[in-house]
Amino acid sequence: MSEDSLDRLYVQHLQTQMRRADQALAATGFDALVIHAGCPPTQFLDDQDYPYKVNPHFKAWVPVTDNPRCLLVYSPGARPRVLFYQPNDFWHKPASPPQASWTAAVDLTVMADPSKAGAHWANLGRVAMIGPRECFEESEAERINPPDLLTRLHYDRAVKTTYELECMRRANTLGARGHAAALAAFRRGACEYEVHMRYLEACVQREEEMPYNNIVAYNEHAAVLHYQNLERSAPAPLRSFLIDAGAQYRGYASDITRTHAAAPGMFADLIDALDEAQLSLCGEILAGRDYREVHLSAHRVVGDVLHAAGLTKLAGQAALEMGVTTVFFPHGIGHLLGLQVHDVGGVMGDLHGHERKRPEGHPYLRLTRMLEPGVVVTVEPGIYFIDSLLAAAHADARRAHIDWSVVERLRPFGGIRIEDNVATTASQPENLTREAFSRAAA
Ligand code: GLY
Ligand code: MN
Ligand code: MN
Repeated sequence: MSEDSLDRLYVQHLQTQMRRADQALAATGFDALVIHAGCPPTQFLDDQDYPYKVNPHFKAWVPVTDNPRCLLVYSPGARPRVLFYQPNDFWHKPASPPQASWTAAVDLTVMADPSKAGAHWANLGRVAMIGPRECFEESEAERINPPDLLTRLHYDRAVKTTYELECMRRANTLGARGHAAALAAFRRGACEYEVHMRYLEACVQREEEMPYNNIVAYNEHAAVLHYQNLERSAPAPLRSFLIDAGAQYRGYASDITRTHAAAPGMFADLIDALDEAQLSLCGEILAGRDYREVHLSAHRVVGDVLHAAGLTKLAGQAALEMGVTTVFFPHGIGHLLGLQVHDVGGVMGDLHGHERKRPEGHPYLRLTRMLEPGVVVTVEPGIYFIDSLLAAAHADARRAHIDWSVVERLRPFGGIRIEDNVATTASQPENLTREAFSRAAA
């Protein structure tokens, strides 16, 4: 699909965005919306800014992700207006106003001085402001981020438009390229740092453009769920490699994990078994299904994998009920994905934000909603050998259900996670990640 075709989808997306905003404004008693793109904070005692991360509400309206201090003004019945920040600045390169065909769908005004921007909404009535509090005037405090309005917008956001789905396919295409380059570097014996660099190079994205920090974990590091270091030398022996890394396209994220073994053997077999289980779970991303059920189903299939590998003496439901699976699989099966890697609205039962409870004993599940067409989720089962969780299980009744000699053999490999991005449709799920890997391999 060409960029112009994508821009045509963008126009439809914008109409959905406007319709959702119209409904949310009417329901909460506001007349108009002003969204601030955000601005990076400055480092303490310094004149350097932290990396800029755009307000997700702003990029939901316009694909401008790299120019802080822009504003979006919307009042029902009018076209959205983008106040595009372009200061007089000879220290930095002021951003150039976008020229792509999507800009025809909005009114784009170049703004050199944000202090005068208020004139654009002075006559729009009761205006809600969305964005980081510090980006607005003190006098606006009462209308910044009204909770009822935000809740409605967050709830709606889970259902992606056709445009958003295409952006997420492309974010997966980029991620698949990065994963291929990272795997090649691992096979050459590169260190974690170099793998990370090869990943960025293949995606043609700088580190701060990643939707989250790359997780590049060798051996025992793979047991740290959000491992954040990048060792500058490769360990010897090199046994295993877990990489959790995505990419973004027009502000939409992919979130992909693969795990590789350095050599055939028990750990490689465990990866294959979890991969097969993960694929069966991807098949459960169906409209009308409760995602909490997918999570519990994941515990049963992970329980079976653990049992077949000889790690546990209980399988499936029994392993779940005895709390044995959570020793090895402590996080949720996945989450909403989109403008943010852990997209908002995951535990909302309705437009008012009533919470849908997590299953008892599963505090880290980030998504408890019913699935419906357009909802994109991750499916990311894991099996890890985490010292603190193993020690806790060893100290209680679960000790008898685990074969500790098998644990000791696998502990040096750290762990496994396999993560795909899956779109719910009216029929079979669309696995955005597997399809991107197939395209990359073709
Ligand atoms: N990359 C973070 C996660 O998988 O949730
Ligand atoms: Mn994830
Ligand atoms: Mn991930």
